[in-house]
Amino acid sequence: MSSERTNTGSAQAAEQDFAWTPKASEIAREGGKRLREFLAQGVETEYKGDVDLVTIADRTVEKFIRTRLSEIFPEHGVYGEEGTRDRMEGEFRWYVDPLDGTTNFAHGFPQFCVSMGLEQRPADLKPEEDGALVAAVIYDPMRDELFTAERGKGARLNSRPIHVSTVPELAEALLATGFPSRKRHDSPNVHFYHEFTLRSHGVRRAGSAALDLAYVASGRLDAFWEFNLNPWDTAAGILLIEEAGGSVTDFSGNRYRLDSREILASNGKIQSELIVLFENLFAGRDLTPIPTPQEAAMRRAARKR
Ligand code: IPD
Ligand code: CA
Ligand code: CA
Repeated sequence: MSSERTNTGSAQAAEQDFAWTPKASEIAREGGKRLREFLAQGVETEYKGDVDLVTIADRTVEKFIRTRLSEIFPEHGVYGEEGTRDRMEGEFRWYVDPLDGTTNFAHGFPQFCVSMGLEQRPADLKPEEDGALVAAVIYDPMRDELFTAERGKGARLNSRPIHVSTVPELAEALLATGFPSRKRHDSPNVHFYHEFTLRSHGVRRAGSAALDLAYVASGRLDAFWEFNLNPWDTAAGILLIEEAGGSVTDFSGNRYRLDSREILASNGKIQSELIVLFENLFAGRDLTPIPTPQEAAMRRAARKR
């Protein structure tokens, strides 16, 4: 038997021990197919505010996912970015972003995905408390990449196990971040972007937080941070990273909560270094001064010599 056939066989066997993701993956794949079709036909863009875009694709795919989830898992709640709030009192709740990366989608930039994360909430849990994240599906329809995880069962990319990277320090790390499309002027992130860029192999800003998190889980990135995300952006990616061996906290190193808004995720090995750096930068320590025009000109001249 060829090794390819052996691998495919074991990948299929591995997929069977996941309880929720096989059905959720079918939904995410079908949602992703519709996103591809909308992209090909072209859609009009509306503004939700500032530069916060929405299209018919976001709304149609959320409606589709909501309908399919309620057919397949009739007891499960659905909490979607485009307004779905179904069965919020139930034990299980899906956080759904039907199109993470709308700005990219609207410009034809092929970096966006469907993200679905499942939370289990025991009956005595207070509304403001988090349950456990138990299943995750992130589907990139442009690369046909399906990231899945279930609690205690590992994380996978197209059915094969994935793990976070082993990069030991920030100086060797490739990072990612994102910027809000709402209230952009309130975000201090550009300053952190600057500092992290100078201390690492670079910071990517590809425009889909869910895919950024999936890339940390699969070792393509070593860390990701962002201010002001929502549970539909993060729920699936958090479980993927935890199951792939990484860490997710807030910027101070506290346990990440679904309403934390700020998220710091990494391969685990560089998490403490990042937390210390956040503390220093917030305190105004270790900031790299921006050169005056004269200083910049002198540096340019020095480089030519
Ligand atoms: C956005 C993307 C982006 C992030 C923004 C999110 P949306 O989600 O994840 O990468 O930087 O903060 O709002 O609006 O495209 O679903
Ligand atoms: Ca999103
Ligand atoms: Ca979205």
